[in-house]
Amino acid sequence: MDNNHQLFLDFHLITMQPDGEPYGLVRDAALVVRNGVIDWLGSATEFNKQDFEGTVIKGEGRFLSPGLIDCHTHLVWGGSRADEWEQRLSGVSYEEIARQGGGILSTVRATREADEATLYAAARDRIEYLMRQGVTTLEIKSGYGLEIETELKMLRVATDLRDSMPVDVVRTFLGAHALPVEFAGRPDEYIDLVCGEMMTAAAAHCEAVDVFCEGIGFDIEQTRRVLEAGKSHGRQLKIHAEQLSNLGGAGLAAEMGAVSADHLEYLDESGVQAMAEQGTVAVLLPGAYYFIHETQIPPIDLFRQYGVPMAVATDANPGSSPVASLSLMMNMACTLFRLTPEEAWAGVTRNAAAALGLGQRVGTLEVGKQADLVVWNINSPAELAYGIGHNPCRTVYKHGEAQVYGA
Ligand code: NIG
Ligand code: FE
Repeated sequence: MDNNHQLFLDFHLITMQPDGEPYGLVRDAALVVRNGVIDWLGSATEFNKQDFEGTVIKGEGRFLSPGLIDCHTHLVWGGSRADEWEQRLSGVSYEEIARQGGGILSTVRATREADEATLYAAARDRIEYLMRQGVTTLEIKSGYGLEIETELKMLRVATDLRDSMPVDVVRTFLGAHALPVEFAGRPDEYIDLVCGEMMTAAAAHCEAVDVFCEGIGFDIEQTRRVLEAGKSHGRQLKIHAEQLSNLGGAGLAAEMGAVSADHLEYLDESGVQAMAEQGTVAVLLPGAYYFIHETQIPPIDLFRQYGVPMAVATDANPGSSPVASLSLMMNMACTLFRLTPEEAWAGVTRNAAAALGLGQRVGTLEVGKQADLVVWNINSPAELAYGIGHNPCRTVYKHGEAQVYGA
């Protein structure tokens, strides 16, 4: 018997292949994994079991989907911002707190102070929560260092997490997340540092470069410089844009070839159009929208009209989205942003893969793709987005290997 071969039999497959049935559904199906890669899938009646040698996993009518992908997180951080949340509940806004030196800068202080082992242990716990709920690939940003040493420390922690956990990690350098106090009043000089020495040091430890284009972040010219530097290092480009106001960041990033533009509550039609032309993915972060009491939703109808692919992610971070559940984000994307459950599923699979430049490897059940699979205790695909505070994840397979049993 060959343990590198598995036959998943009598599952309903949520393939998330874009053409055909809703959710790419294949009922009463078989799926064969060979050496960690999907080798065959289709109707169980078309599969010749006699010729199969290996482990058989019986589905008994359960659903099997691609591993979920959380394509926007700030999972490595020190400290907590519960106190700031209490302030916000009494009426102080997220922006005001940032302008008073709290917000991102308070996490920067805590992250600079924390040692690597502490950061690693806390992030590992956060990732385990996500994995137990079906996440097999995630992105991790730096951006709470804002100095070379601590940015590299964060990226090293992200690398250690990648190397020690059964999850694929895309590392993103976000040196331009906020202006550190040492550079108060001198944002262009800080951008010189980010685009020069800091990025040169970080480039070997990341796959992507991101920038926070916002009134409390960086302006459009500073954003352009960061993206140009990222491009010259051959990294993928991403942007936090149009979260609190419309500065035109998403359109600029799209024109520069960014894989994704994220947040986008204040994006206008010309920005949507630019994203559509370049195939830039819109990453929606309903947890941040909810947690900072935002009232304007991203232009979902325009994304549909122009055919901009929508992804959904946790934005896991201590300030604007202390979230550890991607299926909760699916629920919020549906209830708050009016996505359909099928769009929410595409947002955490196929389109999330595209937002990380991994569309060839993960994100759908398809022959030749990684066997990152999740068995769900649900009666229909929509149920994953419907439940709040549930975890119907039963088993996660990474490269065909069973990893975690759901809580
Ligand atoms: O994606 N928008 C900027 N960055 C994060 C917030 C980080 C923080 O508040 O610590 C976000 O919402
Ligand atoms: Fe973010």
